[in-house]
Amino acid sequence: MTTVAELLQPVESDLDTLLAELRSLIGAGHPILQAAAEHLFAAGGKRLRPGIVLLLSKAISVDGTLSARHRRLAEITEMIHTASLVHDDVVDGAATRRGVATVHSRFNHRVAVLAGDFLFAQASWHLANLDDLEVVKLLSRVIMDLAEGEVRQGLFRYDTGQSLETYLDKSYCKTASLMANSARACGVLSGLQPERLTSLHQFGRQLGLAFQVVDDILDFTGSDQELGKPAASDLAAGYLTAPVLYALEERPALAGLIEREFCDAGDLEQALSLVRDCEAIPRSRQLAEGFARQAQTAIGWLPPSEARGALRALPDFVLSRLY
Ligand code: IPE
Ligand code: IPE
Ligand code: MG
Ligand code: MG
Repeated sequence: MTTVAELLQPVESDLDTLLAELRSLIGAGHPILQAAAEHLFAAGGKRLRPGIVLLLSKAISVDGTLSARHRRLAEITEMIHTASLVHDDVVDGAATRRGVATVHSRFNHRVAVLAGDFLFAQASWHLANLDDLEVVKLLSRVIMDLAEGEVRQGLFRYDTGQSLETYLDKSYCKTASLMANSARACGVLSGLQPERLTSLHQFGRQLGLAFQVVDDILDFTGSDQELGKPAASDLAAGYLTAPVLYALEERPALAGLIEREFCDAGDLEQALSLVRDCEAIPRSRQLAEGFARQAQTAIGWLPPSEARGALRALPDFVLSRLY
């Protein structure tokens, strides 16, 4: 299996520079907020989103070099992502992330709320300083979508009547919007034509949807240790993801357990088994595979390069996390 490090190899040194730059950018804040933000950056995520921005920027550029503005866009992308995780973990009451304690567990809720805000604010400031109104609009839309996605997810907790479309709309907001709009912003900074911009958006969107469906499958099939965050937690919190929505079609008994919010002993375990032991997981995998194929097709026009090779392999990497 390809590891994320192998996949991002064409931009490995750029990602190291990016991490150092991010740490120095957040260094200007209050010591506690700085420590909180540093805590998660130091734990090291997969750096997939800035990796995508840097790979796309290289693949698009005529001479394969990265401009300072493309680099800054990659940094902003990882800042927004990390901020959303800090807040998501507060909302979910999650104890671990990236294999370490979450910010609110390590510090406290007040620090986590402020640290997330601080990162969003820093990202907005650096975004404005790119001096490109179209890029500002794209990335500020992402911040709106993230909030909208969290709210929508909360509203649909334990709602067994929700459709797959509702779930995918929420997933676009929480996950795919950042990938789609940062990919499009890369093209804007490179002065690409509108139809190319649309295909970059489509690439990020379908990749993001595949990524979220895979993350939602892993919540049922992975362990805390493999994921670096709590497994089997979505259903317990009432979040009905693709595997649950498919399982509801096959196992009518599941609806009752969910609707009574797993109040009786053994309810949750029984519900988890119902989801794991039917066609729900394979069907979710097929859903993710469809999105991954569409992502691959969307960037068929990129000129051949090492970066393009990595981008074409990305959708399969996302799927390979399941094996
Ligand atoms: C976590 O994203 C949030 C989801 C979209 C599921 P990642 O799994 O990319 O998180 P890090 O950045 O690698 O920790
Ligand atoms: C993913 O949501 C998107 C964001 C965190 C914004 P999840 O709730 O699935 O993410 P994890 O599973 O906590 O990483
Ligand atoms: Mg979460
Ligand atoms: Mg998840």
